[in-house]
Amino acid sequence: MKILSIESSCDETAVAVVERLTNGGVLVRKNVVASSLTLQSEFGGIVPEVAAREQVLAMIPTLSEAVKDIKRDEIEGIAVSYGPGLMGSLLIGVETAKTLAWVWNKPLFRVNHMSAHFAANWIVDENISKIPTLPAIGLVVSGGHTDLVLLKSVEEWQWIGGTRDDAVGEAFDKVGRLLGLSYPGGPAIEIESKKIDEGLIKKITIGKLPRPMIYEDNLEMSFSGLKAAVAKMVTEKKMTEEIRASIAHEFNEAVVEVLIKKTEMAREKYSVENVVLAGGVAANKMLREGLINKFGLENVWVPQIKYCGDNAAMVGAAAIIKPEMVDVKDLRPDPNLEVVTE
Ligand code: KG4
Ligand code: ZN
Repeated sequence: MKILSIESSCDETAVAVVERLTNGGVLVRKNVVASSLTLQSEFGGIVPEVAAREQVLAMIPTLSEAVKDIKRDEIEGIAVSYGPGLMGSLLIGVETAKTLAWVWNKPLFRVNHMSAHFAANWIVDENISKIPTLPAIGLVVSGGHTDLVLLKSVEEWQWIGGTRDDAVGEAFDKVGRLLGLSYPGGPAIEIESKKIDEGLIKKITIGKLPRPMIYEDNLEMSFSGLKAAVAKMVTEKKMTEEIRASIAHEFNEAVVEVLIKKTEMAREKYSVENVVLAGGVAANKMLREGLINKFGLENVWVPQIKYCGDNAAMVGAAAIIKPEMVDVKDLRPDPNLEVVTE
């Protein structure tokens, strides 16, 4: 089965064509992503109206590129991410998908954007054929969400914990701004942090940042205090290249330590060994390697880097592994959709 999938929840306009494999994995035939990130970085963050306007401009060219060599008959369904996200942006993808499903007379599948991040772990290629073994502890870390989800089976998911304030990606973006780095902060902080790991810059003593809630025996997290601690550190120090890299490294380490500890607590609480990582922050090397070192390569699934950030291949993958067919007239964007809806 081939699915044409659309993603437009924030600043990426993406269209993909994916296919189900008999082993339960998903093969990506086409994956086109256009982003208004460069434009957004001029503002130091996402401006919803700008993002929506760019979605309108990018949707048709992106769609045309994705279906260039694909015959309409090959497409068996249309999938679209309908939330969470920015209302104006979501509308563009949802209306495009509804129109295609109606005009082409194909079934329409709605996809929760956060489920799609998890589904990126089911994407396989000629090098990767290992799909997650469930049950597993799911950890999704993105710009708007940080949640622990018990993935009992492909169908049955249970929310078990998460942040009570800022999402991890949001904290990366805010700390990036405090350090004078470009938007988005996550990749920029990682570049700074790697300078320490690779010995290009020596980590200097800047003091330790807090590891919020790390010793609290629950699955709650908090990252806004950590951001405030960085702000204090920044005002107390004269910014140099060494200090910037050292703070970036210390911040990355603090976040990763908390995420690994809370994942460990979730594994113990639910007697589950496997871990599935997802979301934009899943691209972070320290986090990927930290989870693998702690819990073992055989127990940890991380998405390929190119499927960590927002893309439509993961939306198609979600429609394949967890299909939710919906009538064209019933689908509306849901900007506040939660990771798990009951
Ligand atoms: O999942 P995503 O692409 O969009 C949302 O659904 O929110 O996540 C975007 C977030 C941004 O906050 C960005 O700074 C962060 O993911 N991010 C990273 C890295 N790459 C992207 N954070 C840490 N390390 C990275 N390498
Ligand atoms: Zn996302």
